[in-house]
Amino acid sequence: MLVAGGELLLRARREGYAVGAFNIQNLEGLWAVTGAAVEERSPVIVAVSPGAIRYGGLRLLATAVRTVAEDLPVPLALHLDHGEDLETVSRCLEAGFTSVMIDGSHLPFRENVDLTRKAVELAHPRGVSVEGELGRLAGMEEKSVEEREALLTDPAQAEEFVRLTGVDSLAVSIGTSHGAYKFRGEPRLDFERLKLIRERVEVPLVLHGASSVPPWAVEKASRYGAQLQGAKGIPEEHLRRAISLGIAKVNIDTDLRLAFTATVREVLATSPGEFDPRKILGPAREAMKEVVREKMRLFGSSGRAAG
Ligand code: G3H
Ligand code: 13P
Ligand code: ZN
Repeated sequence: MLVAGGELLLRARREGYAVGAFNIQNLEGLWAVTGAAVEERSPVIVAVSPGAIRYGGLRLLATAVRTVAEDLPVPLALHLDHGEDLETVSRCLEAGFTSVMIDGSHLPFRENVDLTRKAVELAHPRGVSVEGELGRLAGMEEKSVEEREALLTDPAQAEEFVRLTGVDSLAVSIGTSHGAYKFRGEPRLDFERLKLIRERVEVPLVLHGASSVPPWAVEKASRYGAQLQGAKGIPEEHLRRAISLGIAKVNIDTDLRLAFTATVREVLATSPGEFDPRKILGPAREAMKEVVREKMRLFGSSGRAAG
């Protein structure tokens, strides 16, 4: 069933687990993510980025997700990921999204507050929850202490941001970054900062850039020609710790892409006579589904579908 995103996160925060938000761009992703949610009896957030909207079409993607959600025996929220502007937020509200993110993290504090507050004013009358972001996701290893301070989320500012905007959840920067190359050296997250933010912020916290870049997927893709030297993600024990410290939503995209394309490469290389897309994409979507299932177990959302 389709539910409001805020409900899923409040319960997760209360009960000490996290709901995964999995990015999709097409039907293969939608089947993989919802299939995993059913098999794990887990609540799930289907995330659609502006890039995915440009690729797949807003109405088509929203209709597909909502249609699948209707008959789904587990709760599903349809979420706009990294909403760029109020027009995109409005279009997603029209299309029936039940959760939206407005990402003003690149803006100066006051401008981020203004933009985010306007998104809240658009979404709340429709019962749709809003995620804001404060702090910037970027590799931290080559940064000076001052640069890091400027990029990571400041706990006192986070408290003020939530109070001024009325957001339902807050994405924070504690050392993660998007994509497959998160660290050159030892993976490091600022758990002390997360604790301080948690002490000051009541709403559920969100971790972006949380893919683990599993070695098996990198090895499989590399065996069949991918060039992914130096790819590295967030260790699973770091994610467990972040969830224990108050992260209630964990965003995953890169790991799904890696599992999918590694499998496409494998099928094309091992069955060179194959040209039926279903025989190529079918195994890839199965591999993606298995990754989503593992995440649900790791985040503690498996078995939590019932109210
Ligand atoms: O955080 C961004 C998500 O991974 C979506 O990526 O903008 O390439 O669709 P995208
Ligand atoms: P990854 O690139 O680590 O999968 O992060 C995805 C994300 O944050 C989507 O918003
Ligand atoms: Zn993100």
